[in-house]
Amino acid sequence: MDRIHSLDTQLTNQIAAGEVVERPASVVKELVENCIDAGARRVEVDIERGGARLIRILDDGRGIHKDDLALALTRHATSKIKSFNDLCAVKSLGFRGEALASIASVSRLLLRSRQADAELGWQAVAEGRDMAVKVTPAAAVTGTCIEVRDLFYNTPARRKFLRTEKTEFTHIEDTVKREALANPEVAFVLKHNGKIIKRYPAAKSFEHLQEKLKLVCGRGFSQQALYFHSDLDELSIKGWLGSPQHHRSESDNQFIFINGRPVKDRLLSHAIRQSYTGRIPQGRFASYAIYIQCPANEVDVNVHPTKHEVRFRNPRQIHDFLVKLIEECLSGSTSMLDNTSMNSTTSFEQQSAQSGSQSYSDGQAQSDSGQSNSGKTYSGQAFSRQVYAHSKDGYSASENCQRIAEQHNAYQQMSSVSEQSSVNKNSQSFNLNQTLWKQRYWVLPESETISIVDAWSWYLNWMASRWLLNCQSKPLLIPQMLTVKHSEDFENPALFDVFKQAGIELTPAGATQVMVRQLPLLMADASTTEQAFPLPANHWLTALQSLLQQRLPFSEKQMPSNASVQTSPTPNTHSAADESAATSTEVEHRANQLKQQILKHLQSLDNTETPSRDDRQWLQNWVQHQVAEGADWRPFAFSISESSLLSKLGQVH
Ligand SMILES: Nc1ncnc2c1ncn2[C@@H]1O[C@H](COP(=O)(O)OP(=O)(O)O)[C@@H](O)[C@H]1O
Ligand SMILES: [Mg+2]
Repeated sequence: MDRIHSLDTQLTNQIAAGEVVERPASVVKELVENCIDAGARRVEVDIERGGARLIRILDDGRGIHKDDLALALTRHATSKIKSFNDLCAVKSLGFRGEALASIASVSRLLLRSRQADAELGWQAVAEGRDMAVKVTPAAAVTGTCIEVRDLFYNTPARRKFLRTEKTEFTHIEDTVKREALANPEVAFVLKHNGKIIKRYPAAKSFEHLQEKLKLVCGRGFSQQALYFHSDLDELSIKGWLGSPQHHRSESDNQFIFINGRPVKDRLLSHAIRQSYTGRIPQGRFASYAIYIQCPANEVDVNVHPTKHEVRFRNPRQIHDFLVKLIEECLSGSTSMLDNTSMNSTTSFEQQSAQSGSQSYSDGQAQSDSGQSNSGKTYSGQAFSRQVYAHSKDGYSASENCQRIAEQHNAYQQMSSVSEQSSVNKNSQSFNLNQTLWKQRYWVLPESETISIVDAWSWYLNWMASRWLLNCQSKPLLIPQMLTVKHSEDFENPALFDVFKQAGIELTPAGATQVMVRQLPLLMADASTTEQAFPLPANHWLTALQSLLQQRLPFSEKQMPSNASVQTSPTPNTHSAADESAATSTEVEHRANQLKQQILKHLQSLDNTETPSRDDRQWLQNWVQHQVAEGADWRPFAFSISESSLLSKLGQVH
């Protein structure tokens, strides 16, 4: 085997280029992002032959000092970070110090730059295996110009993979579009083979931004898209959502920007797709442009050399927050279209200022600018905020809540209070970190009142509605024997069909016992979550057992003994079909009665018996899930003012 040796500079740079420089569009992306980092207000992208012959990028940014030109073309040389701490909170688009060196190693690159206070410009070229840089004076205006000629001329394998001029230029166009939307305050000009193809002027107001959106995403999108925004703590999400009716065959109108960086992030795309699920046909795509601003240390951009993907510190939270926000926005869109007064006067730049994010302000008042988009503006509220707030670490139960919870022995007196006063609709204080009180209740301090949610009733109600729709059941791992008080009821075999129809499979086991083989499988909606919340089997069994201690009202003689559950009667066998259809209805009717009875037994289960840790956790998880889904807990809550609660507890201060 050969001895070990160091690779020459050009080769190491070419290896690095393999990751960063996939095609001409990736060169454009890297170079344009350098312009943005240099504070450019205007960027010109000049392309020849789809980028294979020439990519020239010209900016009016702060330029590069003459003495740094050589370094700029060296790998791992950057002006953007100095330490690991900088890396953890990087604000610039670049930071790896790799792009120029990599591009230079697979093309003929010329870097020309002039800083505002310099007498003249300078240009640099890297050549040979060592990539030795030659710096010479050059005529230049303030800013930087980089020319990349003959991309991949020295890496034939790569060059072979270049597609047609048209395809490569389409990719470049897409890149410039994304950068233009990501940096609305910067003007872009895109030329191909000497002709101006696109011009995106700088957006200095909300209206300008909408104009830009029209240029990038098309008139159709800008006319029907719904503008939304939500600021919470240091997280700000805003943008435009295409209405579900305007779905597309391609996903080309999907833009996500995080802290000014265009990304194609799977997590965020999934969240958005999930929000649109059920609103657009399968295989079709929604359109959107979404701007997320968050503290730099909340998001890691150093995941991949191309920086398309990011990693959030709390991915689940940002995902869920986004889902809720978009769902709220989409489901409210119809009424909002009618309600033009709703937040339509809030301008983009006002919101930007509030959230401390990029501002498009040019100093003009924009109080009516939002109107131009038919008033379709939405300010994210309600549960999406709660989802985010409550899923953040360290959210502790309020003192009030704690104090009240300690008085739990007095609850029985308290619950008789008929004070069903109205609950503050805008409450934001659904405290999910709080554990179940008496394994059943949540105590929610609101602004003036305290709400008490009966989570158990809420769950049963939810389950009942699902049970009515779906009686699928699942076998028990170990069948359970239950005692029957009135065994004569079970002499009628039709009764087993009734149970079966309700999802409970029983078989006779001696004179006074039945064997429980299957119980209902009650799942949360599988399309919205992978989590399932079936009622634990022990609850079913306890309720069943107490039911079996009674006379079953539906076991009377009128119940036909030949009943069998027939879901699809054969249309040709007329009389038999009629008979079995009637029987089937009868069974269904009885099964519904049975369900009601079982629910009653479940409801009356004595919750003073301490449920197992798993049970408690399960109900708590269920409630959390419901809240995250935006379900309404208010029908299962009653509220009481703090003072009246304290007086009932004999603790008036
Ligand atoms: N258009 C530009 N204007 C000013 N400086 C630039 C420009 N392009 C590159 N530079 C300088 O060259 C350095 C190296 O660029 P690059 O290789 O893209 O690495 P990075 O952007 O990761 O720092 C940058 O850190 C920056 O200082
Ligand atoms: Mg860079």
